[in-house]
Amino acid sequence: MNLSIRLKAIVDLIDEKASVADIGTDHGYIPIYLMENKLASKVIASDINKGPIDIAIKNLKEHNITLGVETRLGPGLKTLSKGEVDVAIIAGMGGNLIASILEDSIDIAKEFNYIILQPAQHQEVLRKYLYESGFKIITEKVVFDSDKYYHTMKVTKGNDTQYENEVHYYTGRGELNTRSNDFKGYINEKIKSMEKIIKYTAKSEDKSRYEYLSNLIKEFKEVKREYDL
Ligand SMILES: C[S@@+](CC[C@H](N)C(=O)[O-])C[C@H]1O[C@@H](n2cnc3c(N)ncnc32)[C@H](O)[C@@H]1O
Repeated sequence: MNLSIRLKAIVDLIDEKASVADIGTDHGYIPIYLMENKLASKVIASDINKGPIDIAIKNLKEHNITLGVETRLGPGLKTLSKGEVDVAIIAGMGGNLIASILEDSIDIAKEFNYIILQPAQHQEVLRKYLYESGFKIITEKVVFDSDKYYHTMKVTKGNDTQYENEVHYYTGRGELNTRSNDFKGYINEKIKSMEKIIKYTAKSEDKSRYEYLSNLIKEFKEVKREYDL
C-alpha cells in the first residue's frame, strides 16, 4: 500500500517495531501499511463509528492482512487498557477533539512510549493543551498534501519548555531552524490567509478578534524575518 504524503509523515515517526493503536482508523490504511512493511508487532485499529470499522475490515481483507490487526469499536482511547500498546496514533481530527480524547483517558495517554498526533486543523489548540497537560513534543514536522499543510507531532509525557509567543503554538518550535520548503510554505500561506481575514474582521465590530489577529500576523512576520523563511 502506498500512503499519502501526510500519512507517510505519521508512519515515518515510528522508530521501532512497536505495538500500535490507530485511533480513528477510518479506512485502516495505517494498520495495513504498518503490517505490510513489518513496522509493527501488532495494531489495534479503533474507531467510534461502525461504518469506518467495516471499511477498515474490508480493506484489511483486500490486502490479505489476516493476522496482527484487531479492530475495535468505541470512543478515543477507551477501547484500550492501560499499557496495552506502546504507541498511539491519533490523526485526521481537529485539535480540540484530539485534546479531549487525550484528556478523557489521561492515565492511558501517559503510559504510551509516545503518541503521534496529526490534527486536521487547530494545531495551536492541541499544542496549548499538550503544554498545559504534562506532555512534551519530541519532534514535529509540517508537510504539504492535497492543498493543505499538516502538522505532525511525536509526543510523550513530560514537561515542555514554555512557549515564548502565541505564534509558536501555531508553528511549533521543532521546525524553525530546519527551514524546510513545506514549513516555509506554511508560514507564508498563513500570513496571506490571515491578512485576507483581517480585512473582514476590521469591518465587523469584533475588536478583540481583530487585535488577536493583528498581533498574530505581526508575530508570524517576525518569525519569517528572524528565521529567513
Ligand atoms: C477524517 S477520519 C481520519 C482517518 C485517519 N486517521 C486519517 O488521518 O486519515 C476521522 C475518523 O475518526 C473517527 N472518530 C471521530 N471521533 C472519534 C473518537 N472520539 N474516537 C475514535 N474515533 C473517532 C471517525 O469516525 C473517522 O473515521
